[in-house]
Amino acid sequence: MTSNSSIAVKFDNVFKSYIIKGFLKNKTTRALNGVSFKVHKKEIVGLFGLNGAGKTTIIKLICGLLTLDSGAVEVFENPINLKSVEYKKLIGYVPELPYFYPFSTAKDTLNFYYSLSSGGFKNNEKSEEVLNLVGLYDRKDDKIKNFSKGMMQRLAIACSLVHDPELLVYDEPTSGLDPISIREIRNIMLGLKEKGKTVILSSHSVSEAEKICDRVIILHKGEIKKIINKEDWADCELEKIFIDTVAYGD
Ligand SMILES: Nc1ncnc2c1ncn2[C@@H]1O[C@H](COP(=O)(O)OP(=O)(O)OP(=O)(O)O)[C@@H](O)[C@H]1O
Ligand SMILES: [Mg+2]
Repeated sequence: MTSNSSIAVKFDNVFKSYIIKGFLKNKTTRALNGVSFKVHKKEIVGLFGLNGAGKTTIIKLICGLLTLDSGAVEVFENPINLKSVEYKKLIGYVPELPYFYPFSTAKDTLNFYYSLSSGGFKNNEKSEEVLNLVGLYDRKDDKIKNFSKGMMQRLAIACSLVHDPELLVYDEPTSGLDPISIREIRNIMLGLKEKGKTVILSSHSVSEAEKICDRVIILHKGEIKKIINKEDWADCELEKIFIDTVAYGD
């Protein structure tokens, strides 16, 4: 299902609106307005934009959690397929606000996520391996209700990896974490790239994006304003490019 093409994700002129139901009439908000881009295999690509720019909408479309109005989205040359377990197995996803059953342990949670992609089987070994990777091995038998925000975020990353997907899609993976956790999560993402995985992440942190992304897509009000390669922000600070792009429409 992963195809021989070098492209991991392709958006082709994607439009997406949300309908907000009102008492007398509905209102439509356009979140994406003709978005086209490609992400190559083994790249780390950052989605960058102000609040409401459309980052989460793009991420949810990739994961098959939303349907688009028009255009096309492909993951490893497969069109979005909400019903296909094979499609979902390609992707590991960390949502903006991860939520877990509070009375479950970390290890049971990982076994549950593993079972979703394996037809109901659990895998203690794999669950422990990913808990170790995110630094939660010592807490594997603790209930999630006792976890801190940072620990929940690490658990969410572990859940995204337990079925060994080819594409990781992270919605603000380091938001609200301490500097050491941020560095550890950054290293996990760089390690994934070394293993040949593709990573797409959304972020508000310019310094974060500068450190790990091969390319950054700047989104503004549902449109792509700029796609920049790592080489192109070596001399010029990414923060300046970003602010010039979204504030002055450069
Ligand atoms: N469930 C929803 N119902 C209605 N409108 C929505 C919904 N989700 C998003 N939107 C709208 O779509 C637009 C894009 O939202 P989106 O969540 O994709 O932005 P974002 O870039 O992820 O923002 P943030 O940085 O705040 O997370 C916004 O105008 C938002 O109000
Ligand atoms: Mg968002």
